Amino acid sequence: MATLYHGKMAAIYDAMYQTFVDYDEEYEFYNSFIQEHNCKSILEIGSGTGNLAKRFKEHHQDYTGLDYSESMIAIARERNNNVTFIQGDMRDFNLEKQVDAIIITGRSTSYLTTNEDINETLASLFNNISDEGIIAFDFIDANRFIPYINKNQKIIHQAQHEGINYTRESHWETTTADNFMVDWTAKYYTNLNGKKDLIADDFSTVRVFTLNEIQLFLYINNFEIIKTVDRKTYAYDTYVIVAQKKKS
Ligand SMILES: C[S@@+](CC[C@H](N)C(=O)[O-])C[C@H]1O[C@@H](n2cnc3c(N)ncnc32)[C@H](O)[C@@H]1O
Repeated sequence: MATLYHGKMAAIYDAMYQTFVDYDEEYEFYNSFIQEHNCKSILEIGSGTGNLAKRFKEHHQDYTGLDYSESMIAIARERNNNVTFIQGDMRDFNLEKQVDAIIITGRSTSYLTTNEDINETLASLFNNISDEGIIAFDFIDANRFIPYINKNQKIIHQAQHEGINYTRESHWETTTADNFMVDWTAKYYTNLNGKKDLIADDFSTVRVFTLNEIQLFLYINNFEIIKTVDRKTYAYDTYVIVAQKKKS
């Protein structure tokens, strides 16, 4: 997994993503599915530094966060008193009680790099969601992402948080040995008085998906798609899928 989610880098992630991502809009977007299906209890997987948790809490919803990284959870807890965050792996978790909605946000599905990872995750979702409940998750669209990174060798994102200017320079290499994977090198800088200082250097391998692949994974794992949304986010073209357990 990306080193970005560990130790002091989790705080850098938090600072940068707060300007990349409009979390109010992100909350409204996922909450619309939750309301549409009258879901009372919500699990967010890849809850990160708790930016969506904050919105769910402000709206007095029954929300739990789950994330792999202790450092991300530590920041999420600091931001949100009285919210439950579980350290866990989306590929293998068991809640005490099934929930009505499970959301996987912020392209956290990119870390499911093998087919086994995806099948295990969908099996865990199946076991932890109620019969009428919904799952909703996004993924990076391989068909648009791969041509984009082939055209753009260096992709720069800038952010400002609490008076500090940040730059991220990303470079992606496509590897198709197993699936559609990308090796992502990212360098993070602060820019102060015209001086650029490297503060973090991150490397991770992530997976991008075609829509057909995801449709088939859901079919095999007994989910029925009820909505597919073509959605641009701050840097990527994604699809968002809303699905339910197949009715027997
Ligand atoms: C790109 S961040 C998104 C965080 C948050 N949803 C947001 O939008 O700011 C991906 C998150 O997924 C978490 N993650 C990665 N693999 C995971 C796994 N197998 N199980 C649970 N969480 C995982 C990381 O620790 C990280 O917090």
